[in-house]
Amino acid sequence: MRPDRTPPDHLDLDPEDWPSARAQAHRMLDDMLDYVEHVRDRPVWRPIPDAVRAALREPMPKEPSSLAEVHDAFLRLVLPYGTGNVHPGFMGWVHGGGSVAGMLGEMLAAGLNANLGGREHMPIEVEKQILRWLGPLFGMPEGAGGLFVTGSSMANFMAIQVARTAALGPEVRRRGLAASPERLVAYASSAVHGCVRRGMEMSGLGSDALRAIAVDRDWRLDLGALRAAIARDREAGLRPFMVVGTAGTVDTGAIDDLAGIAAIARDEGLWFHVDGAYGALAMLAPGLAPRLEGIQRADSLALDFHKWGQVPYDAGYLLVRDGALQQRTFAAPAVYLGREARGLAAGSPWPCDFGPDLSRGFRALKAWFTLKVYGTGRLGAVIEQTCAMARHLEARILASPDLELMAPVSLNIVCFRLRGADPDSLNRRVVEELHESGVAAPSTTTLDGHLVIRAAIVNHRTQARDIDALVDAVLQRRPDPVTHC
Ligand SMILES: Cc1ncc(COP(=O)(O)O)c(C=O)c1O
Repeated sequence: MRPDRTPPDHLDLDPEDWPSARAQAHRMLDDMLDYVEHVRDRPVWRPIPDAVRAALREPMPKEPSSLAEVHDAFLRLVLPYGTGNVHPGFMGWVHGGGSVAGMLGEMLAAGLNANLGGREHMPIEVEKQILRWLGPLFGMPEGAGGLFVTGSSMANFMAIQVARTAALGPEVRRRGLAASPERLVAYASSAVHGCVRRGMEMSGLGSDALRAIAVDRDWRLDLGALRAAIARDREAGLRPFMVVGTAGTVDTGAIDDLAGIAAIARDEGLWFHVDGAYGALAMLAPGLAPRLEGIQRADSLALDFHKWGQVPYDAGYLLVRDGALQQRTFAAPAVYLGREARGLAAGSPWPCDFGPDLSRGFRALKAWFTLKVYGTGRLGAVIEQTCAMARHLEARILASPDLELMAPVSLNIVCFRLRGADPDSLNRRVVEELHESGVAAPSTTTLDGHLVIRAAIVNHRTQARDIDALVDAVLQRRPDPVTHC
């Protein structure tokens, strides 16, 4: 029964029967907690049956359904066929495992339905608090800018925009790149994530203006090659403006020599951006943090809480040393976004002044919950544990004559393959079969022209037995030995 004095002809979307909506909500929460608690008992992933796909395809509903009916459809059609990254056997791409604290934070954020584009309200203070924590962790001064974004693809793109403003001045926003006589060029290793290249495209600089610098045998950017490329470009009359170092490359987990790149950036007057999509949070792990030396000198840094930070998707982040420059890159005053000294329109500058999004969700809350509930000590220990799991996998590979390690194990990513004739198609098939078996879900990549099985251990739930299950399942797919009579 509606407790208020809502007129009978008034339409809103709140429950007509709050007690039963509440009971249903509790069931939904319980079901999700059950899912997370017992995820290990499920297959990591399973193919989507045609009937399930077909069942989802219905005309847009004109008539209402009960919350219970829709939840039932979710349980039947969606939940069993997710990506699987909550499962400890998921080791593909770079997917975090999420956390219960983060999930509940997300639920509260949805209930509050805050828009963090701007205005004067406490959710923005929570987002600012994350900046107050992250800034010092990465050597950023007071006045640094920080913003939640979808992910590092967006954060890297935005960093390119800020670096471009640093090089050409804020008037480039109005006049466009074509008005500048200078051709900007940027540098990153050949192992840089593809989103940096796409960021160059989207920013109008063009991906040809991103120089792919050679890597050394450990897949780290070759500093000598970087210096040479910069010199060549200057000689050709181009304007080097930015260098991207990666803390944890997507293929092998290599950490570029960030201090070395920082020194070159300083000597050459380049913007130093670090793509720390997953690796940057290794700063929380005392055993790993020294390997990121130099990250504190970045002008900007992209990182994802939804990877090693175990915050549910999505929770990317951009840090910029010079917050005022970030603001000059994005702020776009409008009469309908007027700022006042008091009231709800106070609190300027607003987050929308530091990036392209006006409407923004409360991503900060799930990150705040995760950081507070687990503490940086435990999160850092979990990060170290994933690296220990990677070393366990490395040891199993080295101990097996049927397996071949395909890249040095730097952090938590292990690239290997099963030996056999036509190893590319063999290993591709092995990975497909592993996915369909539901036992483990690594992904593949190509290193030096060879297709390899790639296990990125990001999930805090992954144990040695999950690694063993992966190795055993790969070995079960050994090709039959060729017998000679
Ligand atoms: C090194 C690196 N950079 C950037 C990205 C893109 O991040 P996102 O998927 O959060 O956009 C990834 C994703 O795995 C990555 O590993």
